[in-house]
Amino acid sequence: SRTLNYKWEVKSELKSPDCFKKLTITINGRSPGPTIYAHQGDTVIVELKNSLHTENVAIHWHGIRQIGTPWSDGTEGVTQCPILPGETFRYQFVVDRPGTYLYHAHYGMQREDGLYGSIVVWVPEGQTEPFSYDHDRNLILTDWYHKSSNEHAAGLATPGSGFTWVGEPDSLLIQGRGRFNCSVLGSSSGTCNSSSTECVLYPLTVVPGKTYRLRVSSLTSLSALSFQVEGHSMTVVEADGHYVEPFQVNNLFIYSGETYSVLIKADQDPSRNYWITTNVVSRSRTTPPGLAIFNYYPNHQSKRPPTTPPAPPAWNDVPPRLAQSQAIKARQGFIHAPPKAADKVIVLLNTQNTVNGRRRWSLNNVSFNMPHTPYLIALKHNLLHTFSQEKPPTGYDFKNYDIFNPAPNPEATVSDAIFRLDFNSTVDIILQNANMMSPNNSETHPWHLHGHDFWVLGYGEGKFDIYNDPSKYNLENPIMKNTVPLHPYGWTALRFVADNPGVWAFHCHIDAHFFMGMGVVFEEGIERVGKLPTSIMGCGESKRFLRP
Ligand code: C2O
Ligand code: CU
Repeated sequence: SRTLNYKWEVKSELKSPDCFKKLTITINGRSPGPTIYAHQGDTVIVELKNSLHTENVAIHWHGIRQIGTPWSDGTEGVTQCPILPGETFRYQFVVDRPGTYLYHAHYGMQREDGLYGSIVVWVPEGQTEPFSYDHDRNLILTDWYHKSSNEHAAGLATPGSGFTWVGEPDSLLIQGRGRFNCSVLGSSSGTCNSSSTECVLYPLTVVPGKTYRLRVSSLTSLSALSFQVEGHSMTVVEADGHYVEPFQVNNLFIYSGETYSVLIKADQDPSRNYWITTNVVSRSRTTPPGLAIFNYYPNHQSKRPPTTPPAPPAWNDVPPRLAQSQAIKARQGFIHAPPKAADKVIVLLNTQNTVNGRRRWSLNNVSFNMPHTPYLIALKHNLLHTFSQEKPPTGYDFKNYDIFNPAPNPEATVSDAIFRLDFNSTVDIILQNANMMSPNNSETHPWHLHGHDFWVLGYGEGKFDIYNDPSKYNLENPIMKNTVPLHPYGWTALRFVADNPGVWAFHCHIDAHFFMGMGVVFEEGIERVGKLPTSIMGCGESKRFLRP
């Protein structure tokens, strides 16, 4: 195994990824940032220089477990202090499993401004994957707003009628490119330029007859997506770094924080190009489809397909999405069976509430709030007065709570309390969805766990029945993932082993939802965590460790 050294500079620059000029956060001048290519077992070192003029930064390595390096997880407030403008921070970690992973800002809602990219980890040289393909390609999917994340944050944090929801995205990007229809803005300004070379649709060039491993990942701020390649079906073979028992789809439903590999054969009429499309699902969409070009060599890369892009699936049709989630199983020969039973069960009821006039999301009526001193430092150095020492609730009133109606108790509480897990214990999490504050509305929430993969034991509709549903868990061949959807009015059951010393966030991957409190934090084995680097310190009460 090798050590890969990267020097990255984070900057704020005017970019036009969808033809509309926006202040974008770039890495070495690019958004998406450079793709990290590594082999299993390699050590990745990223020297990150924050050249933003006035903003802090932190980067999370999404899907990398950080075994032995919990201080490199990049989660501001949980594992480190923010990196100040002008400072350089060194992330160092081992990529210990092959697969498709991501990185992105983990400071406020900064990810929305373009600070993200992919990590591709190959099997060690000389080893092969359990499926074959000719070429490996990468497509990262996002949604894009013309407003800045700071403007969004201000709107979300305003109490009372000043509350402003972020709304539907202006564009969907594929590999950082899209096309906003500038004409809807009128002739007004130079801020939207449809002939900018930055917003030429991304061409994915394929050679007729070849099979492609397409790594498709989503880092949307808000949107659940349906991804398709016109006229081509896809075979799903990997999810979040784990081999999937192969199955075919025409639409791949993908939620923020998920990664998939699909195999696609370039076996259609090669005299033309085809559309690659993304469409919003699960929210009443107003955003036009994301477009890219599936370009058959040697046609010109920008040759428009002769067809109109395929029609999207109905936005509110939940059953096909639930069915696809349920279809994802571990591949035969690569099954890592879960422990047969859990030591602890935590049920998290997802509701929308108000707290002191502010719109918030909560879990069992508690909305998450980040403390000033990162938990990792506070726990390792016994600064327990820096956050609430209460135990967060591990369930809700199952018997009486009606998940099909808005919360009857709009007043929730805000807390920075965390779950402290016994080291090596097996933990089950049941995510229970419910109605949000407006009637007849339940959203899809993609939940992401840092520091671990979990087994996906099952999905169901309606209220989880703690007496009968566990007997239906898939303990045979459950897939392991790090991000999983919670479908409208449904439940999702997960199991993981708390065997990674550190402090780990578990949250909804929708930027605005996490900002509004939709997350929890787990601690395990803090006494086994090695000496913390002082580079993660300097904020809150961790200042004291930097004084001579
Ligand atoms: Cu990809 Cu805590 O997020
Ligand atoms: Cu959410």
